[in-house]
Amino acid sequence: MSDPVCVTDYERLAESKLQAGAFGYYAGGAGDELALSGNVEAWRRLRLRPRVLVDVSAVSTETTVLGTPVSMPLLVAPTAIQRLAHPDGEPGMARAAAAVGTIMCLSTLATATAEEVAAAAPGAPRWFQLYVLRDRGITRTFVEQAVEHGYGAIVLTVDAPRLGRRERDLRTGFRVPEEIVVPSLAALGGWEGATPLELLGAIDPALGWEDLAELRSLSMLPLVLKGIQTAEDAELAVEYGADAIVVSNHGGRQLDSVAATAALLPEVVEAVAGRIEVYVDGGVRRGSDVVKALALGARAVLAGRAPLWGLACDGEAGARSVLQLLRDEIELALALCGCTAPGSVTREHAR
Ligand SMILES: Cc1cc2nc3c(=O)[nH]c(=O)nc-3n(C[C@H](O)[C@H](O)[C@H](O)COP(=O)(O)O)c2cc1C
Repeated sequence: MSDPVCVTDYERLAESKLQAGAFGYYAGGAGDELALSGNVEAWRRLRLRPRVLVDVSAVSTETTVLGTPVSMPLLVAPTAIQRLAHPDGEPGMARAAAAVGTIMCLSTLATATAEEVAAAAPGAPRWFQLYVLRDRGITRTFVEQAVEHGYGAIVLTVDAPRLGRRERDLRTGFRVPEEIVVPSLAALGGWEGATPLELLGAIDPALGWEDLAELRSLSMLPLVLKGIQTAEDAELAVEYGADAIVVSNHGGRQLDSVAATAALLPEVVEAVAGRIEVYVDGGVRRGSDVVKALALGARAVLAGRAPLWGLACDGEAGARSVLQLLRDEIELALALCGCTAPGSVTREHAR
């Protein structure tokens, strides 16, 4: 195969490099994968409305998220077990994100510690994705470590009280290879060689809105709720003091048959009415998808699988190439839409 030139090329190349179980774990979704394919298709269906005769001799993709400057409105979504893609794992992903100037959000279920990932890209901003475990003591230590190692936000994932039914994993009999360690769960013991279902079994399914106050009291870090899918929950998120939300269906891996995130975004943006920042993820494969998300009112997008495919193809360098490619695509889409910066994208730029 010739050198990959778009995210889909990286996905094909990654498929040829990864074992079937690992590829299925990364690529797959829940049930019939309607949400998974729906996310991708919804971005593709939207149409851009370019304006012409605008001076685009200087275009910047820079923006801020929660006040932190980033080189583009695309962040690296938290994805578990990155050493399964490549030995560079999360430290490699962190260096790639830092090189391109964006934020990596580290998963609770990472295969490196929060400390290692911070040390891999010391000057770069980073966020920590939190799963609240049944063991609240361990959960507290996750937050303490995030504070200690300079993570700038806690991204609480709220769409996974139980694991979605991932049929690709059932078919391949996927288990996390014994030699790949998930340090956050080490204290609980017995997680080596677990299935994703067993790993996610550590998450507390009883978590409710009223628990957010306690979570907030654990640190001064901004709290981002990831996995909001309705205007009603967006309203509650604001009421309960979230600093931002991510419109997300977990990349189609949790409840199947939910609406595509691109389709949900306008109702959530309307409900939030500018009170907090709204991000979106799911199915972003092109820079033009990011510009469409901005047009629908998102401040930024998160990309999960796209940088993972880069990591699988060529470790840190591959993840960096994918992020650079997306940044270049965002810049080109902005320029051809007649926008000189993310802030100049308006509702009228997409239908
Ligand atoms: C392999 C994989 C592992 C994931 N692990 C996590 C995780 O540990 N925590 C989390 O909040 N979301 C997790 N997600 C969801 C992503 O953060 C994100 O919502 C999703 O990947 C976005 O869709 P995309 O892959 O189409 O970009 C995971 C997604 C994938 C593909």
